[in-house]
Amino acid sequence: MTTSLSSLDHLLASPAPVLALAPMQDVTDLPFWRLMARYGGADLYYTEYFRVTPTSCLDKQILASITQNPTGRPVIAQMIGNDIPSLVRTARELSNQPIAAIDLNLGCPAPVVYRKCAGGGLLRDLPRIDGILGALRESISGKFTVKTRLGFESERTIEALLPLFAKHKIDLVTVHGRTVLQMYQGGIRHDLIGMAATFLPCPVLANGNISTPSDAETTLANTGARGLMIGRGAVRNPWIFSQIREHFTGRPITLPTGRQVLDYIHDLYETVCDPSMAEFKGVQKMKKYANFIGEGINRDFLHAVRRVESKDSLFALCREHLEHGKALALAPSAQGIF
Ligand SMILES: Cc1cc2nc3c(=O)[nH]c(=O)nc-3n(C[C@H](O)[C@H](O)[C@H](O)COP(=O)(O)O)c2cc1C
Repeated sequence: MTTSLSSLDHLLASPAPVLALAPMQDVTDLPFWRLMARYGGADLYYTEYFRVTPTSCLDKQILASITQNPTGRPVIAQMIGNDIPSLVRTARELSNQPIAAIDLNLGCPAPVVYRKCAGGGLLRDLPRIDGILGALRESISGKFTVKTRLGFESERTIEALLPLFAKHKIDLVTVHGRTVLQMYQGGIRHDLIGMAATFLPCPVLANGNISTPSDAETTLANTGARGLMIGRGAVRNPWIFSQIREHFTGRPITLPTGRQVLDYIHDLYETVCDPSMAEFKGVQKMKKYANFIGEGINRDFLHAVRRVESKDSLFALCREHLEHGKALALAPSAQGIF
């Protein structure tokens, strides 16, 4: 783990806000990272989660994003699970890899995960989290980070979680400012992310609904966080990290034109759809991304893209909406913020 450690320290020592690409299962994979890096890129990348059970071994495709990291930036490996011996074993295996830190997922809202008391489900059982963090802290000699939501049902759970993160000397905490039951609905509680940033001795990354440089500025100002983690906003707008850097250094923000967005969608197809993949599978995979991108284009595009069935119809639709030279902010129209 030591090789990249200094790069994370270096990142945290610089005065600029740390900009991380969020982990997104089946979305932010190795090909997607390669594409992101070409469009300006994040400062820090989180892997999709490694599922950890008594019989698990490291997923080869996720591992490849570490061993073949194409970004030139530090990588944090994320684990999800609740079985302490398995988590400790996996953390030891990951420690041999060129990673900057090991992260524990305390936020996944998928019922199939939380019903097994993993991811966001652990937020219903704080003594169990205490035990897991203690065991992992003891076994991880490098950096150990956590990505959490505010709580399972109640936002106030964060108040009891923060002392646990401090007790176990977590090195960096990312807070997605919603509860598990909120899934992706509802405003982001900047005030509660701010409480984490004030309470914890370690850096905090604020996460949730950051789609524009202005969102980035508001989130940092409202929370006092050390940096930002961006997921869907980066799929929608791969220029977002560059735009935020432009904004914070007082330069004009470069917005892409419709044609540049069209080129991005072509690039995405070429990058994330393996040539050996059947067209139908490729189109299904593209729809995952287009669902986020469409929110930044318009409602008609979004509605239609969910129904395309071939590569030709996908790109005909994209040309219809994007073959123009007007600048696009690529932000969804309404996002609530407390
Ligand atoms: C399709 C999808 C997959 C996700 N997979 C993960 C994951 O593997 N690990 C994780 O910690 N969070 C995961 N998340 C949550 C994101 O990392 C992030 O916290 C959430 O999308 C809010 O940030 P955003 O508004 O910038 O997208 C996922 C979210 C989505 C939409």
